[in-house]
Amino acid sequence: MMRPEEGIDRLAALVERRLGLVPASSTKEELLAFLEEKAPRRQWEAYLDRLESAGTGDAELRTLAERLTVGETYFFRHLVQLEALVEQVLPTLQQRGRSARVLCAGCSTGEEAYSLSILARESARVDPSRLFITGVDLNARSIERARRAHYGPWALRVTPQPFRERWFQALPDGTFVLSPEVRDSVFFEERNLLDEAPDFWAAGAFDVILFRNVLIYFSPEAARRSLSRFEQALTPGGFLFLGPSETLRGLSESFETVQAGDAFYFQRERVRPDIPRTPPRPSPPLRAAEVTPTTPTGARNRLKGPERAWRLLEEERYAEARAWLEALPQHEREQSLSKLLSAALHLQSGAFREAERLGEALAESGVQAAEAHYLLGLCREQAGDGHHARARYERAVHLEPTFALGHLRLGMLARREGAATAARVALRLALILLAHEQPLHLTLFGGGFGRHGLMQVCQRELWACLEAA
Ligand SMILES: C[S@@+](CC[C@H](N)C(=O)[O-])C[C@H]1O[C@@H](n2cnc3c(N)ncnc32)[C@H](O)[C@@H]1O
Repeated sequence: MMRPEEGIDRLAALVERRLGLVPASSTKEELLAFLEEKAPRRQWEAYLDRLESAGTGDAELRTLAERLTVGETYFFRHLVQLEALVEQVLPTLQQRGRSARVLCAGCSTGEEAYSLSILARESARVDPSRLFITGVDLNARSIERARRAHYGPWALRVTPQPFRERWFQALPDGTFVLSPEVRDSVFFEERNLLDEAPDFWAAGAFDVILFRNVLIYFSPEAARRSLSRFEQALTPGGFLFLGPSETLRGLSESFETVQAGDAFYFQRERVRPDIPRTPPRPSPPLRAAEVTPTTPTGARNRLKGPERAWRLLEEERYAEARAWLEALPQHEREQSLSKLLSAALHLQSGAFREAERLGEALAESGVQAAEAHYLLGLCREQAGDGHHARARYERAVHLEPTFALGHLRLGMLARREGAATAARVALRLALILLAHEQPLHLTLFGGGFGRHGLMQVCQRELWACLEAA
């Protein structure tokens, strides 16, 4: 009879080979639960043999993928990159009547692909009728949800109000339905990026590939395989977008870095002179697959304790940050900054109850209380409880009058409630204070937006307020 560790190791190796994913140490329990559910221990060997030889699309492999993939995403994530794509890359590609074909590889529940479609419709420089967006993901359930295009408020947490109004229908239960025009502009398909599919990956099939926040979950081997496939499927001079903390270092030498303002992306082969370039930004170090808490290698691994979790959070590597925090000794977990970080990570992953529990304890202790009240406000807001959310934000800015994000949320809430004057006052103040907002607040609560991105969100809210006046 197989020992539990043997079963887990064999299943983890299979997951890496077939799905490309390196299971984090925190998912070991999940692997064990999966095996126990699927077969009695005496039959694990036979079950694993069968799974290893299963073909593409096998139902058990699909279930495994649904259980193990991390689908964290939201509308307008890493906005500066999407804006660079829409304002610089797409107009160049569409010159002389050409179409632009974009692939979102690892599209999860569709927010990224739809954000691109919305921004293209908002831009005066892009012709949306000549933009073709395809989204693919391994997780069948995510693809189903992407096609449904019906989202909870959390998915729209950084969506500017004017976009909410123009491109979504708000339902009485607090959820949002995407406009049919945008929904029908994206084609979604369940697909494993590692499976052979010569037609799909035909030479020159795409002009742009978005592969953001997927690489961090991949083994180096799976990363190399998918990147070489992308290189082949991109037109010469085509573009590749990774997440801001992801790098091609050690994985591919076929792309050059392009920097445009705060955004950077990659271009296959030589850069064409019509795309503005500045010298490459230094490669962000470290890949997630190399930094699980149990396998310390690489420069960033020199960071210890909660600091390492902070760094992972800064890089939006939430699952790893959570795993790292959970593995810390108790005295480090008990530090107030660790607790705050843990609460923010729970919030980020949608575990609102736990986030709220930790936030309450912090608020009561009086340490990091302004941040704790702000976090509790976010929890209340996502529960549709605007009244208590406002009280929490008010408490946060009372304790820390220069808390820009607190004023921003108060302004957004007031605007949604039709309190135009209160909204204008709060948003104007937020805009001034955002220029000096603490890095701690931006990292914890910026939702992937940098200072500049948040100022843009604030500015748009303010314009919308003034337009409505
Ligand atoms: C964190 S989400 C990223 C979503 C989106 N790109 C973004 O940046 O917001 C990662 C997605 O990659 C998908 N994924 C992981 N391995 C994959 C594979 N081998 N083939 C296709 N998709 C995969 C997961 O199912 C998950 O939905």
